[in-house]
Amino acid sequence: MKRIAILTGGGDAPGLNAVIRSVVKTVKNLCECEILGIKNGFEGILDDEGIFPLTREEVRGILHRGGTILGAANRGNPFARKIVRDGEDVVEDISQQIIDKLDSLGLDVLIIVGGGGTLRIASELLDLGVPVIGVPKTIDNDIGGTEYSFGFDTAVSIASEAFDRLHTTAESHHRVMALELMGKNAGFIALHAGLAGGADVILIPEIPFHFESIVERVRERVEVGSHFSIIAVAEGASPVGEDQVFMYRGDELITARLGGIGAVVANHLAEKYGLESRFTVLGHLQRGGSPTAFDRWLATSYGAAAADLAVVGRIGRMIALKCGQIVDVNLGDAVAVHKRVDVYGDTVRAARCLGISFGD
Ligand code: F6P
Repeated sequence: MKRIAILTGGGDAPGLNAVIRSVVKTVKNLCECEILGIKNGFEGILDDEGIFPLTREEVRGILHRGGTILGAANRGNPFARKIVRDGEDVVEDISQQIIDKLDSLGLDVLIIVGGGGTLRIASELLDLGVPVIGVPKTIDNDIGGTEYSFGFDTAVSIASEAFDRLHTTAESHHRVMALELMGKNAGFIALHAGLAGGADVILIPEIPFHFESIVERVRERVEVGSHFSIIAVAEGASPVGEDQVFMYRGDELITARLGGIGAVVANHLAEKYGLESRFTVLGHLQRGGSPTAFDRWLATSYGAAAADLAVVGRIGRMIALKCGQIVDVNLGDAVAVHKRVDVYGDTVRAARCLGISFGD
């Protein structure tokens, strides 16, 4: 009997449970295979209680639920795992232990659902002989080889609603309101939510900005009677010639966390230009809670496609969306690309047509 396992790695994203459900249901419908769940990303592989059989009962009623029933961890890279030994922080490579454990389980396929970091680890494990299939998940939408990763649409919807709410208070108080959004080094969430939520200025990492250009747009609006402005700020955005802003710089062992540029923008506009400004950081609200219908559809389709490939043993692939079709692409090729906003693409062009400023 074939043995297929699934783990969810990296930060969570709405739609993870939909994928797990879809994989389990598809595998059970297609064959007599056994399906195992691995808890807490790669960490669970070496944990005695981290691997357990996934049944139809286990995945009942989870389609709409945020988070992941398997747990996730955005630490625990098996090639560079941080541990404390004799009071000292050390990094160790435990990939061989992971590979040995997976071997001992007699797995035919390991389905890894994750963002760029997790899927790069998946690709390295594949190179070392682990039979991997990848599924792209991230609110940031920065994974190569696919037009959309699931989780992104939900994050954009939540952010758009936040813009609606900021609009009414900004208008009442004649203020400039900046909303800081996630996305790491890609500005997709800020760009799409900024368009959907009617932002006047959108600041993204791909287009370094000048404060003067923001102020110019705010003043133009005042001249035509709009005494408030809304700014979408991607957490990775930065002024021309300046570094990105980090809430936590980390060290060589831990990933640094971006954050704080929303406050920098609002405070600078107030202090240097006398514009009454406020900022909001939407943070993990973009990742929590129920997935949108689009993300449920995408995650379910990705799960079914991954399970389908697993059953026929087609490893080394990543499920993707291309021109509206669910396809599979080479995992190594996909993770080699860090997708970023095309600054000459349709969405940026549409925003510019509407008079939205990118601060350039
Ligand atoms: O990659 C998803 C993401 O939410 C990024 O947009 C953000 O920078 C990061 O994860 C936050 O990570 P954490 O959950 O560790 O704070």
